[in-house]
Amino acid sequence: MTSTLSQRIQQFYDASSGLWEQVWGEHMHHGYYGATGRLRPGGCQAQVDLIEELLAWGQVKSAQHILDVGCGIGGSSLYLADKFGSAATGITLSPVQAARGTARSQGLGLSDRTSFQVADALQMPFAEASFDLVWSLESGEHMPDKAQFLQECCRVLKPGGTLLLATWCHRRCPPDLSVSEQRLLAKIYRVYHLPAVISIEDYEALAAQLPLAGVTTADWSEAVAPFWEDVIASALNPAVLWQILRAGGPTLQGALALRLMAQGYRQGLIRYGLLRGTRV
Ligand SMILES: C[S@@+](CC[C@H](N)C(=O)[O-])C[C@H]1O[C@@H](n2cnc3c(N)ncnc32)[C@H](O)[C@@H]1O
Repeated sequence: MTSTLSQRIQQFYDASSGLWEQVWGEHMHHGYYGATGRLRPGGCQAQVDLIEELLAWGQVKSAQHILDVGCGIGGSSLYLADKFGSAATGITLSPVQAARGTARSQGLGLSDRTSFQVADALQMPFAEASFDLVWSLESGEHMPDKAQFLQECCRVLKPGGTLLLATWCHRRCPPDLSVSEQRLLAKIYRVYHLPAVISIEDYEALAAQLPLAGVTTADWSEAVAPFWEDVIASALNPAVLWQILRAGGPTLQGALALRLMAQGYRQGLIRYGLLRGTRV
């Protein structure tokens, strides 16, 4: 029986999120290593720095109710709710992640204003104009329909609210992707359960069709690429290696593919794209 993309994404995160949290903490996204990638803040500080840099770039200084689209185990939702004293709702395809986000929120005393649920970003169970910040940190690459994804993010935003996202992209086209570039992407797609990714220029063109003002994009590939060296180094720690081997399946495949991402960045094929806009 073949499973759908959503099921594969769910199974991947259900199976691997516990180990990720144990080794790398609550943030399941790249770190920020300075604008040219030369800083080495150490541990998970680079990931916290990415959140802060993203807020500064997106000119977000406050929020009342945040939607964290593709929330993982709630790393950003809880960080932002605590920072802004706001409410936050996180959605993920993984019941394991939603349960862990809920437990972490209780542990941090934030459960009165944060919640986590299983929901599809392409069909969100929220009314129009529900949130004043829609935040998506590295979930866009999983979306099989990027236009629908942006449309949904925009629909649930209040007028004046901000959409802020960071996502894995491929390089600007043209020139068209070469056969070897397509092969490398296909391997990355298979292991990380991604449909085809697009360029940040493509995202910008899609956003231009939506009721968003001040749409801005950026490419932070240089600033985030060292993340993969850090992850590879920590995966080589014997205790971690043993746990990855024990987990097997998709977790092991994900670990074996770490070098593919490092290679993609080195070649300039994988790009780290940012997009912000204000709901009209
Ligand atoms: C790489 S993790 C990022 C997690 C989190 N944003 C963070 O930075 O810690 C990708 C997340 O996107 C979620 N995701 C992927 N496709 C989704 C969809 N269609 N609807 C909702 N969540 C989705 C996954 O369940 C997972 O939580």
